[in-house]
Amino acid sequence: MAAECLPPSLLILGLAVSVVCAGSLYPRDSESRVVKTLDGIWDFRADYSNSRNDSFQHSWWSQPLSASGDVMPMPVPSSYNDIYNDKALRDFVGWVWYETQFFVPSDWRDQRVVLRLGSAHYYAVVWVNGQEVMRHDGGHLPFEGEVNSAVNFNGPNRLTVAVNNTLLATTLPPGSLSFHGGAKYPPHYFVQNVQMDFFNYAGIHRHVHLYVTPRVYVDDVTITTSINGNNGEVNYTITLGGSSGDSPPGVEISVEDRDGNTVTSHPVTSLTGTVEVNNARFWWPWTMKPSDPGYMYTLKVNVSTGDVYRQMFGIRTVQATDSQLLINSKPFYCLGVAKHEDADIRGKGLDYPLIARDFVMIKWLGANCFRTSHYPYSEEMMDQADQQGVVVIDESPAVGIKKAENFGAVSLSHHKDVMTELVQRDKNRPSVVMWSVANEPSSNMQQAEPYFKDVIQHTRQLDPTRPITFATMHAASDDRVVQFVDVISINRYYGWYTDTGHTEVIQGHLSDDLKSWRNKHHDKPILITEYGADTIAGMHEEPSFVFTEEYQTDFMSEYHKTFDTYRAQYLVGEMVWNFADFMTVEGVRRVVGNRKGVLTRQRQPKAAGHLLRARYLKVANTTWHTT
Ligand SMILES: *[C@@H]1O[C@H](CO)[C@@H](O)[C@H](O)[C@H]1NC(C)=O
Ligand SMILES: *[C@@H]1O[C@H](CO)[C@@H](O)[C@H](O)[C@H]1NC(C)=O
Ligand SMILES: *[C@@H]1O[C@H](CO)[C@@H](O)[C@H](O)[C@H]1NC(C)=O
Ligand SMILES: *[C@@H]1O[C@H](CO)[C@@H](O)[C@H](O)[C@H]1NC(C)=O
Ligand SMILES: *[C@@H]1O[C@H](CO)[C@@H](O)[C@H](O)[C@H]1NC(C)=O
Repeated sequence: MAAECLPPSLLILGLAVSVVCAGSLYPRDSESRVVKTLDGIWDFRADYSNSRNDSFQHSWWSQPLSASGDVMPMPVPSSYNDIYNDKALRDFVGWVWYETQFFVPSDWRDQRVVLRLGSAHYYAVVWVNGQEVMRHDGGHLPFEGEVNSAVNFNGPNRLTVAVNNTLLATTLPPGSLSFHGGAKYPPHYFVQNVQMDFFNYAGIHRHVHLYVTPRVYVDDVTITTSINGNNGEVNYTITLGGSSGDSPPGVEISVEDRDGNTVTSHPVTSLTGTVEVNNARFWWPWTMKPSDPGYMYTLKVNVSTGDVYRQMFGIRTVQATDSQLLINSKPFYCLGVAKHEDADIRGKGLDYPLIARDFVMIKWLGANCFRTSHYPYSEEMMDQADQQGVVVIDESPAVGIKKAENFGAVSLSHHKDVMTELVQRDKNRPSVVMWSVANEPSSNMQQAEPYFKDVIQHTRQLDPTRPITFATMHAASDDRVVQFVDVISINRYYGWYTDTGHTEVIQGHLSDDLKSWRNKHHDKPILITEYGADTIAGMHEEPSFVFTEEYQTDFMSEYHKTFDTYRAQYLVGEMVWNFADFMTVEGVRRVVGNRKGVLTRQRQPKAAGHLLRARYLKVANTTWHTT
């Protein structure tokens, strides 16, 4: 349904704009825009029919959901899995249905009314008053559509959303269904197999917004920056959407500092160009500049026909060399954590206290970066990373691409679409210094080579300004994909999944490993994207024993010694697995979830949290001599 927007050059030649465009700007209030949230407690019903398809056969969207059967209250945003004491719902596979009511102010009638879901996991179909308005394939990324022709401007509106959490060979993440017949299983029995080590939380995970813009509107803003002495150069491209009749609208652009002062000397009227910010305040990670990290400017776009949109951005550069990661031309060392968007009850549902707490604990740990393992995090979380000066490696939901059937043409095409949506959403964020196209694929398989060559090339075309990586579990000797990336990211578990309990082998193995990567790819720096050991908080044993707090600290200390050796060479960072404990599927290796957190799932430190904090603060002090 989305046609291409006209390129700015055509607009300047005087062509009218009348297309549906592909921007995914975050809905923000302005002089011309109003944003309203539809969050709250909605009606909910799962389709437990054997075929999981009764709901479609009986058109549950065509009348109030309660007319189809019993509904239950369900919070939006949240995962539906852990709210009720109901194992069948927690582990449900198939379609669930959500419904709410809303009103549209009658004075929105002549404007453009847009419905936007921040994320619905995994596949979603949306109806307004029984009319289908959009579908979206994939969790974790926003989708929106104009709904003027479906909404009622005088009277209530019924919003129905059907969400299907099924993971198949061609979804991201991939998975499969197993059907079990015979007398030993209940009738019509099937289970979801996942290829990732975290719970497949599902539902409407982020805000549902209804917003209004003028008929001609700012559809997209792209900002790239460079540094010239004390000045910042800000390249911008604006795309407009909507129909303006015969003459193109005028556009006025200005840059405001954090206090709202206009810093461009004169307004600019082109849809694409460069503005210079004199004596700019650059965006820095918080550990590299103690005062004013995360400095954000605003690009204000004012369209003569009435739309005003404000896009935040930071002025910074990022570059991967053969042995360093440079931010504003200074070497950056990632003191990091890999995370999950996961916590009790709400599952992966957006939660402001959790976001705030996570940043408090990231900073308490002394961490200056995180990876969005293993899917894009909420826009609200990413805003905090921008504003608090925390560096982000932005990862796609491509986790566990393991089997030959996950490398087909349909998977490839979907993977590229997901990268397009991810770059589209996060391209203006200074915190994002690198794209991670996948986590732990079978990068040793022959199919992986052409597949990832294509995904990475595609991502590079979308954004030539940021380095690209993926996290590999394979060895330098059998990996086929690292050749295409800028930074080598490796996940390692010496002393855990191999040589379990033997911390004494860690340094030798890790050191040998790093050298073998360096020998094969001496033009790329290395980042440790995972290392960690499961630990039950409060379990102690001296001398250390696996699963105890003592083992986790002994284990990490060995890794740290090797990191310190290579830190001065080509190692550009370390990320512990994991920031906090998180939920997984039931399995004999998981004691109510993955316990590799240095924090508990409630975000309280284990002994390893204290160890990491002492290390990160010390390394930050000796590396950046806080000036
Ligand atoms: C589900 O039902 C709809 C409506 O009857 C039908 O079009 C569709 O093919 C069915 N899907 C499956 C997988 O049976
Ligand atoms: C929805 O769920 C059913 C049951 O798991 C599955 O067979 C079907 O493929 C899913 N459809 C989509 C579009 O995800
Ligand atoms: C900004 O635009 C100029 C002129 O088109 C170009 O040379 C430069 O590479 C651009 N810089 C960035 C960071 O995109
Ligand atoms: C947008 O431009 C119009 C016309 O120049 C002006 O009247 C208005 O104040 C501007 N709005 C903002 C928010 O700058
Ligand atoms: C780091 O430096 C700060 C300020 O100089 C100091 O207060 C702090 O104690 C140092 N921390 C460590 C762990 O050395």
